[in-house]
Amino acid sequence: MLYSDWTLSNNEYDPKERQARDALFSTGNGYFGIRGFFEEDNETIGANGGIYMTGVFGMGSYDAWEGKSSELCNLPNVLRVCISCNDEDIDGFSSISDFSQSLDMKKGVYARRYLWKTSDGRRLELCFERFASMHDIHRIGQRITIKALDKIDNLSVAALLDSDVTNLNLASGEPFPIQPGRNHFISRNVRTNALSVTLDDPDSTVLNFAQQTFAYLNGKAVTGRITTNSKACGTAYTCSLNKNEVFTLEKIIFAVTSLDESLNPEQEIEDFLSKPASYEQELARHCSALSDKWRVADIEIDTNTTDLTIVRYNIYQLLCVCPEHTDRFGIGARGLTGEMYEGCVFWDNEIFVLPFFLYTNPSAARKQLMFRYHTLDAARRHAKNNWFEGAMYPWQVDRKGVEQTPVNCGAFYAIHITGDIAFTICRYWELTQDDEFMLSYGAEILYETARFWVSRCDYNSFDGRYHILSVRGPNEYDVYVNDNAFTNMMAVYNLKSVNSVFKKLKERHPDEFDKLFKRLGASHEEISKFCEVADKLNIPYNAQMDLYLEDDTYLIRRKLDLKRAKPTKKRIIDSTLPYEALPLYQVTKQADTVLLCCLFPHLFTKRQKENVYKFYEPRTAHDSSLSYSPHGILAADIGLHEEAYRYFKESAYLDVNDLQLNTINGLHFANFGGTWQIVFHGFAGISASNGKLYIKPALPTQWNRISLHCLFLKQTVKITIDKSSIAVKRLDGDTPLTVCVNNQDYLIDDKPLTIDY
Ligand code: BGC
Repeated sequence: MLYSDWTLSNNEYDPKERQARDALFSTGNGYFGIRGFFEEDNETIGANGGIYMTGVFGMGSYDAWEGKSSELCNLPNVLRVCISCNDEDIDGFSSISDFSQSLDMKKGVYARRYLWKTSDGRRLELCFERFASMHDIHRIGQRITIKALDKIDNLSVAALLDSDVTNLNLASGEPFPIQPGRNHFISRNVRTNALSVTLDDPDSTVLNFAQQTFAYLNGKAVTGRITTNSKACGTAYTCSLNKNEVFTLEKIIFAVTSLDESLNPEQEIEDFLSKPASYEQELARHCSALSDKWRVADIEIDTNTTDLTIVRYNIYQLLCVCPEHTDRFGIGARGLTGEMYEGCVFWDNEIFVLPFFLYTNPSAARKQLMFRYHTLDAARRHAKNNWFEGAMYPWQVDRKGVEQTPVNCGAFYAIHITGDIAFTICRYWELTQDDEFMLSYGAEILYETARFWVSRCDYNSFDGRYHILSVRGPNEYDVYVNDNAFTNMMAVYNLKSVNSVFKKLKERHPDEFDKLFKRLGASHEEISKFCEVADKLNIPYNAQMDLYLEDDTYLIRRKLDLKRAKPTKKRIIDSTLPYEALPLYQVTKQADTVLLCCLFPHLFTKRQKENVYKFYEPRTAHDSSLSYSPHGILAADIGLHEEAYRYFKESAYLDVNDLQLNTINGLHFANFGGTWQIVFHGFAGISASNGKLYIKPALPTQWNRISLHCLFLKQTVKITIDKSSIAVKRLDGDTPLTVCVNNQDYLIDDKPLTIDY
């Protein structure tokens, strides 16, 4: 892999690596996610493309908790192109040389180039370029340039919208090529350069696509002919090329679906087809919209390493996945870059991904939290179906918020997600002071989830404490335990938040608060109960060791020889021991108590954090991509600079190095958010608490300076940190901000301030 400031590229062509690289070179705009597949591939699973849309699910293959499961649907391959040269197909496989593929993250353009030789030795240079427009999210641009390096008598290029695709169903570790999956289209309507399909989901979602194509020979327009069959449509071009002549195809795709709440999708398609689009113009608009996003999102790092590019790559993928156009869908664990976990949304979103948006684009974060509000009824149903009160957020959800984990596979235990959502709602409010959100939506979620915790906790009259029994914390190798500290502390926070949030809302908005109180059927007795349960909820802790315990039995379990249990990069459960064996051992799948220290940096003493890190780190298998970043953040916090940097590397380069051996199935979005968090919370040491921004830098020795922006209390702040000083500048707004460095408060008004640390 090659790194230059804004570009990630690869010059090696290895057919075996192709599918994993397809994921790596994904691009998107929050509406579409497009893998870096070869659009000219007619032969292999690559012919299925790999294009996804936020919220577009087909019928899955197993029984979930309320009927058949859903799975993210692989869309018609709207980038498909069939290219042949003197009647030989160019399929992007056999005769490739001088290959390169690159992602320009500043422009948001993915490009590919190679030389191709026909069987009689004639050479062509092919360049492919694509983008998903950040300006008009319904549009995708594609440009293909073919240069004849020898005379070519007959070049044929057909630009298609092709619904003859299936889901990819890629499986890591499987021999290549790998099992294709289902086709989700129950009907198709193929017209001239326009195609609609109806999905097999319960809503019979309809997806409409149209394309405009333009072709040029040495810059002069070439006329094409319409081509259609029962599954595909498009425009085909043929020409002959003298040596050094260039054929160019430009195409703009437009899509609208029945989920867009468009009043008249058919009309929108007609409107698109009737107004000629221009590739260059679309590209320019897209680049400018993306550069607006980078203005706040970018992190500049002065370093001799490749870290600047890789941090940008992590951020770029977060920008590409975020559905800013809607509050009806969440961000899936693999975003829109692969089909693993069926495209579902987990706690990954609240705890790992959303902090990036909370600090750089709070309105996008609000929309993600609104997704949880819109699915609150599903969470209420889930609680009721499982004999609890209030709202129990399911572990893994589709766009309707319904539990998608296969039945009997642990979702009943994985309840910390409910507290994670409540926690992030409070973080959003603390950082934005968006009272309207809290009054109208957030408080209802807090109250209903608090009701759930009360009904989920059990009182033990022998020790006078509440306990949460049969639960699975972030460390899923526990299988299930009693009193997972992470779950219990999130529950405590959730339960206590009702009282503290209500107090403030009542003070600031007495009338609206009264209405809210009535709407929730709230009572002071119930709120006192929330507080009582919170106060008496058991948090496992060993006073002798001053150590928070993952659960009530962790200390008495057997030690596990991790070298033996995990001799390779493969997860323990995929290599040496069955899942059932793991509760016998002190083994942690992924950051659990370590993560707790990151989420509540002001709650634990330095000694307690050190104890947690020293105890759990050697017992952690990192068998999930969610493990590295919390270790990096905590290591930075307690001054273990080299460890922090090592974990940063694991996290930031995870997909590039295919560390979890499953990048083929889609990129790891929690990890992208986690990488941003190591830089922001760890190296820059920024956190917010009680209306103040705390800055406690811990720059890696390999970095000289970082500069970033964040939004705090609706104002944009620029923070630049070098080896000895912190420069803070407020870029907008007029409220003084308090920044705390080394226990000293500084007021930031119009004037920039430099603080030595
Ligand atoms: C992790 C979970 C995570 C899920 C989706 C699992 O391997 O253990 O914590 O939510 O992957 O990313």
